[in-house]
Amino acid sequence: MTHRPFVIQARELASTYSTHAGLPPLAGLGSFADAVQPGLSVEESVRRHKHHHYALRRLHQLFIARITSEPLYELKMAWSHQGWLCAEYVAALRARVGEMREPPLGLEKVPHPALELIFDELLAAPLPELLLGLYETTLPAVREALQRHFTETHLLADQPTRRLLRFALIEFDEILDYGRKTIAALVTPENRATANQFLETLRSALASVGGTDGTSPNGTTVPPRLFSGEPWRYNGVPQRDARFPDPFNMGVNAEVFLYDSLQPTNAKVLMMYFKRLREIDVPEMMSSIITETPGKPWGYYRDMTRQLWDEARHAMMGEVGFAAAGVDWPSKVPINFTWSRGLNTQLTPKERHAVLYFIEQGLMPKTGKRHEWETAILSENPLSATFQDFDWADEVLHARVGRDWYVSDMPSAHAAIAYGDACWSKVLIDWDSWRRDGSTAHANWWPAAYQQYCERNNLTPCPQVASYNTTYQSIRADLKDISASG
Ligand SMILES: [Fe+2]
Ligand SMILES: [Fe+2]
Ligand SMILES: [Fe+2]
Repeated sequence: MTHRPFVIQARELASTYSTHAGLPPLAGLGSFADAVQPGLSVEESVRRHKHHHYALRRLHQLFIARITSEPLYELKMAWSHQGWLCAEYVAALRARVGEMREPPLGLEKVPHPALELIFDELLAAPLPELLLGLYETTLPAVREALQRHFTETHLLADQPTRRLLRFALIEFDEILDYGRKTIAALVTPENRATANQFLETLRSALASVGGTDGTSPNGTTVPPRLFSGEPWRYNGVPQRDARFPDPFNMGVNAEVFLYDSLQPTNAKVLMMYFKRLREIDVPEMMSSIITETPGKPWGYYRDMTRQLWDEARHAMMGEVGFAAAGVDWPSKVPINFTWSRGLNTQLTPKERHAVLYFIEQGLMPKTGKRHEWETAILSENPLSATFQDFDWADEVLHARVGRDWYVSDMPSAHAAIAYGDACWSKVLIDWDSWRRDGSTAHANWWPAAYQQYCERNNLTPCPQVASYNTTYQSIRADLKDISASG
């Protein structure tokens, strides 16, 4: 430390200084002994912010882009969460740079070609390599850079930066903990051996950059590419794991059941758990919009990613609901992917956004989200009431996100809705041909799921519920002819 003689003397002098009545000094930020130590310059702090910004933006891209083609349900959910955290920190970093005598310019610049290589490689890597490269190599390096910035910048002069970094560090530790447990569960010693060369590539790229913050670069060398030699292409065809054995099944029309006033509310709660878990298809579909829509202001990606994460939470609410109801959903409830698959493979990103908006604004009338919440209240199921209450609130937020980023791009609100309806109508959800070609038998899974629920909860099955048999063959989820999410 070049300032050592200065600091020694300053500390000595400051040690004779005290606050009134021994009150905590400096608004509680830290001690005088630490505060007399000079910190980073504005220029250096901004430089590091730009490096963190680049790393987090690429991490966001990676988490979101891999959701759809990743079969494992838990990873889809975790990446929805981690992608959203990255989107939030990217927004915070952009805002902070804008406060430091810098317009938030130059943020799109790649700080070092070897840093770019790291994220290109991760994006294209197979799962075991991705898990090891992310959670054991790259994310710890990003965490170290955030920690270094926190430690080296001035606790008083650059306090807004320190606050931002403190929150980021807490959440990075949670992500790293998730990563360790995931690797312990999924990665075999053989996977690790195979990943060796890949991890060596990442480590040597990191050494070249000098940590993800570029504080100790050792050159401009960029190691050869392993997985990212060819330009990466997004794969929008949703993949599911073994707990989704019948992904084309559209044999049970949830909406017709929910709006049938003669059906009992406890069975409707069960149907709402199905609807919630089926929302897994929204992150799969929004992944494609976010990934395939470049060049928008960061607010777009932040809002869309928040919505994506909300939808993942809604899916997990369904999972929790089934667990609480004693229903083994993997064997009793086929959660389909027909909506995300149809939209991702047949529509452009803008058309998908239009469909999403059309559906979500349709959830707002009295028959929509309010009805679901009231049903949960009437059923006296407090868990479902909590879930539907927040599902409703989140969906109101999503309608606003749609207005801000989709409707604002259309000639009028009316045209935006009409276009969404038209786009959804042209998606080929071919109920009959899937049955003919053997993709699914559209089996009516409802009676068996309901029976298990009754058995586990000591209830006498209601014959009218048990005999429910209406499919999506001719009635769409918005109760217009011909399924989707909500
Ligand atoms: Fe929802
Ligand atoms: Fe939504
Ligand atoms: Fe939703």
